[in-house]
Amino acid sequence: MRFTVLVADDEKNIREGLSEALGLEGYRTLGASDGDEALRMVDQGDVDLVITDLRMPKVSGTEVLKTVVGRYPGLPVIVLTGHGTIEDAVSAMRSGAFDFVTKPVNLDHLSLLVKRALESRELARKNRELEAEVEAQRHSSSIIGKSAEMKKVFELVRRVAPTRASVMVTGESGVGKELVADAIHNLSPRRDGPLVKVHCAALAESLLESELFGHEKGAFTGAQGRRRGRFELAHEGTLFLDEIGEINQNVQIKILRVLQERKFERVGGEETVEVDVRIIAATNRDLKEEIRKGSFREDLYYRLNVVSIHVPPLRERRDDIPLLAMAFLREFGEENGKRIEGFNPKARLSLYSYPWPGNVRELRNCVESAVVMAAGGLVELEDLPPSVRSSGEERNVRVPVGSSLAEAEKILITETLASQAGNKSRTAEVLGIGRKTLYQKIEDYGIESAVGEH
Ligand SMILES: Nc1ncnc2c1ncn2[C@@H]1O[C@H](COP(=O)(O)OP(=O)(O)OP(=O)(O)O)[C@@H](O)[C@H]1O
Ligand SMILES: [Mg+2]
Repeated sequence: MRFTVLVADDEKNIREGLSEALGLEGYRTLGASDGDEALRMVDQGDVDLVITDLRMPKVSGTEVLKTVVGRYPGLPVIVLTGHGTIEDAVSAMRSGAFDFVTKPVNLDHLSLLVKRALESRELARKNRELEAEVEAQRHSSSIIGKSAEMKKVFELVRRVAPTRASVMVTGESGVGKELVADAIHNLSPRRDGPLVKVHCAALAESLLESELFGHEKGAFTGAQGRRRGRFELAHEGTLFLDEIGEINQNVQIKILRVLQERKFERVGGEETVEVDVRIIAATNRDLKEEIRKGSFREDLYYRLNVVSIHVPPLRERRDDIPLLAMAFLREFGEENGKRIEGFNPKARLSLYSYPWPGNVRELRNCVESAVVMAAGGLVELEDLPPSVRSSGEERNVRVPVGSSLAEAEKILITETLASQAGNKSRTAEVLGIGRKTLYQKIEDYGIESAVGEH
């Protein structure tokens, strides 16, 4: 991306000198000879950075600074001050200037400041974009995600929600299966009815049956009165059976009967109870395998699995990582009373490259601890847990002397592509070239991207 720098100074020599120097560094430059002209150019919307002299005819530089800061938050202004006017510099900084440079201008120093100012602007812009996306998503559902994979999940949720069909949600631990169940219930006509959750793995086998179906007084030692089970409690609502792979054969048969006939008896009881319950089951086991081993009933499997929704692991939908990370950052920032704007580039790269075996749950925990650790306004690499951190550490390439420039270029492109998990837009951004140029070079050099296409 080519940045545009506006140089405002009434002295022609300075204006043109700076413009030329910045032009040589690859920036597009605009010149303004007074404050009025400068503001008009900024208002046209194509300026990424303003360098302004303080004393100018018509509208002063101080005025330009204040107007830009007020009207365009995030647009950096570097102020030029005359020799020995430190008060001017101080007051400019107070008014929100990014930095100041004293005349005569040291071009190396200015060029460094320009680079830094533009980087911080880019970072702030990216963080704001993410914020806006997070905000937009919040309104639709508590499930955050914009990857193609999650869009498929959302689409399935929307389609099954209005029906009574049983749904089987599968996926590794921590991918968000429970959130999917919540979303189905909340989007269904049963949303005003109860959503009852049973964590099947957490209950001893003997307890699970009475937990689900209830019991009559005296059904077993300690059963002092009649107790209604979760199926009854979920009447006219939804029952979420989490970790369905863990239930025993006896309970499997009873659940099958409820699915077929919508009725059951309480433990130790004769009376038949009729219920209207929609069932959503979840598992991180391979139930087909359990069927083969004989520990899960095939008929129950097909009854539960009328519609199946698979939530892919986070490493297969990395595009969701920045959005999720930002949402968690906001959540825990608020909880801890810390104002953290975002992640610095290295931290962001680590979050992106780490494989997340514990999926979204692990990412959430990681961001929570980063918020606790963070000392500044951005999460830095050091704030991340060591395992996550090492995935974003500096990567170097070695180019043997004797290589041609083309060979060196090929190595750098290949390695950068790998560091960006094969994402070509980001690779082009890191390398500072256009996407088209990158595509051309990949083709010319015959670079095979080892990682998937993006
Ligand atoms: N897409 C998402 N957007 C926001 N938060 C998410 C998302 N996916 C998961 N989470 C959060 O991650 C944590 C784990 O999610 P959840 O409990 O739904 O996972 P699970 O698949 O049911 O895991 P397990 O198999 O271990 O029970 C929760 O705190 C949840 O809020
Ligand atoms: Mg769960």
